[in-house]
Amino acid sequence: MIENFDKITQETLLELEKTQRDFWNISRQTAEFLYNTVINEGFISGIEVGTSNGYSGTWLGKAFKLNCGKLNTIEFYEKRYSIAQANFEKCGVSDVIIINPGEAIEVLKSLPEDIKFDFAFVDANKRESIDYFNLIHPHLKVGGIYTCDNVLSHKEKVQTYLDAINAHPDYRHTILDLPAGLSYARKIR
Ligand SMILES: C[S@@+](CC[C@H](N)C(=O)[O-])C[C@H]1O[C@@H](n2cnc3c(N)ncnc32)[C@H](O)[C@@H]1O
Repeated sequence: MIENFDKITQETLLELEKTQRDFWNISRQTAEFLYNTVINEGFISGIEVGTSNGYSGTWLGKAFKLNCGKLNTIEFYEKRYSIAQANFEKCGVSDVIIINPGEAIEVLKSLPEDIKFDFAFVDANKRESIDYFNLIHPHLKVGGIYTCDNVLSHKEKVQTYLDAINAHPDYRHTILDLPAGLSYARKIR
């Protein structure tokens, strides 16, 4: 899959994988899955919570670029989103990715009421997963996909989120057996 990308992107992603633990990046397997989901579903508008150094954002940016879409991503740590910006530029996706600096909850609260996403990927403060879900829900299009990483590795911290999405009548939810566990839900109404 990584072979589909230009040489600079391949090299950048392989380089980022060497420091995966320092920047808490998702696994390659999860990245490939999210990339394929965005492309296959034809999604054009995404929100990511937790940019870090831009590893997942680069994969997602490539997918949204293919679909002529855009990705918004949120990060409060300046050092990390500066590195992410440089990686997005290097990999040719900075034109489709908007970095929103700040506290995720505050950024999500400040979204324009009419902004709609067809894809969400949540990977920031695990205990705040429930808040991110409640704040993104009104902006997610029917038919869209909501994902949240680390639901098996950090089960206790995300339990309120899992209980909420499992019980929510607007979502069909499952947990995918990817490294760390990926919560995957379609908004059905
Ligand atoms: C697990 S890492 C994200 C990794 C990234 N998704 C990837 O795979 O390349 C989580 C990131 O969320 C950021 N973060 C944590 N809590 C946050 C908050 N309340 N607001 C904004 N960013 C937050 C951290 O600084 C960290 O860089």
